[in-house]
Amino acid sequence: MQAATEDYINQRDNRNLQHIPGDYGTPLLGQTFPFVTEPFKTLDTNYKKYGSIFKVNMTFQKMVVALGPEYIQQLMLDTKQVFSARMGYDAPLGDFFAGGLLMRDFADHKVHRRIMQTAFKIDAMRSYVELMHPIIADGVSSWKKQTDTLKLYPKMKTLLLDVGAKVFLGLDLKGEETKRLNKAFIDMNAGTVALIRKDWPGMKYRRAMNGRRTLEKYFTDIVPKRRGKSGVDMATYFSNETDTDGNYFSEKVVGEHLIFLLLAAHDTTASALTMAAYYLAKDQIWQQKLREELLNLKNSGLEYDDLGVNVPHLDHCFKETLRLNPPVPMIMRRTIKPVELGSYEIAPHTMIQVSPLYTHQMEKWWKDPHRFNPDRFGEEENKQHPFLWAPFGGGAHKCIGLHFADMLFKCTLAEMIKKYNFKFVTQNQYPSRMQHFPFAKPADDLPLELTPL
Ligand code: HEM
Repeated sequence: MQAATEDYINQRDNRNLQHIPGDYGTPLLGQTFPFVTEPFKTLDTNYKKYGSIFKVNMTFQKMVVALGPEYIQQLMLDTKQVFSARMGYDAPLGDFFAGGLLMRDFADHKVHRRIMQTAFKIDAMRSYVELMHPIIADGVSSWKKQTDTLKLYPKMKTLLLDVGAKVFLGLDLKGEETKRLNKAFIDMNAGTVALIRKDWPGMKYRRAMNGRRTLEKYFTDIVPKRRGKSGVDMATYFSNETDTDGNYFSEKVVGEHLIFLLLAAHDTTASALTMAAYYLAKDQIWQQKLREELLNLKNSGLEYDDLGVNVPHLDHCFKETLRLNPPVPMIMRRTIKPVELGSYEIAPHTMIQVSPLYTHQMEKWWKDPHRFNPDRFGEEENKQHPFLWAPFGGGAHKCIGLHFADMLFKCTLAEMIKKYNFKFVTQNQYPSRMQHFPFAKPADDLPLELTPL
């Protein structure tokens, strides 16, 4: 079922933005290069020159950028149903994540969100914590055996892929199979930032599409085997959901949801965990504070019910990491009807970007905004506006996995903090050169020295 306004899909972007202030930058690439290398600074320069709404040309698209919590709120709540997520992400993600939840709009999106809902209920969450604990414990323990110093980011990605295979797919991946799926997944993600989007031999884009085809085949083969079976992994939950007439959703539909889910879950959380370790390697006082909080817990492992209330420092650390480095730094939509944005009239089919990255560090709202200070969440600085801290978006498309991410982040970081003291390898490692896209991490993959405790 598609929205009645489906014809908004087959339209070109509106580029008629003369009435919006701003500068398209160099021909063709516009401000893409400065944005990719220094996103906050590039947005800030525009903000100071043109105000909170301006036009830019980025990644071959002309768009309106609207900075501040009020615009995140307007786009996320979308009370007039005028913002399409599907068309907002169609250019970078459409080919790879077709059919994923974020690539669906309005009534169609609602139906598909329902397919996934059961897998995110509290009972399911409790069982995922049980599934993930031993994998995290083994993975984190294995880090020290391998080297004296360790590059955290690739280790974190491998660990989270093992957790994902178990929790999402109910699989214990081994050897070649892990390598094959991992490669397909990495190739597909790399395609989202490919500049030349041609399915030609040798191109990054071709590798990405091959990655998608491998995953599609793998996941659609799993689904029939899970029909009518019980299991606490997400693939089994989705495979057994039915529509209002009691029919299963097709293998293709379930496979598409699984592919998008893996993308949405994996790199976002790996980036958040790597960035948290980066801040905590610098701030040994906070690292120790978290260790003491964890050692004071009644049980040795974090349980689902501990997460919200019993580890406030860990919670603030999670929130502060996502404030400084939101894994989804910009949220895209395209208008389907005329819209008022601030004092501007925006025509249908206009690309709009709102920015958790910028909003999370606006001097107007935050004290000392670029400093890592988890205590600001104890002081409720974030509560000045409901969308001032919005790493998970909001409204109909609000991250369905936010509690899962919270749980995975806290269980993994807790294990790392309890097992090791971790420090930078060199004196001048802070500040590191950052890679911002497709996900934030130190460009050197964060080498750390681990001392077992
Ligand atoms: C720190 C980790 C994460 C962050 C920061 C994050 C952020 C987001 C954001 C901002 C959106 C909304 C995008 C938009 O409205 O344009 C979103 C959507 C989504 N996320 Fe997450 N996410 C994270 C982890 C996860 C995990 C672990 C899962 C699954 C287990 C997940 C599954 C999804 C899905 C399926 C959507 C699409 C929801 C919809 O369209 O209805 N995410 N996420």
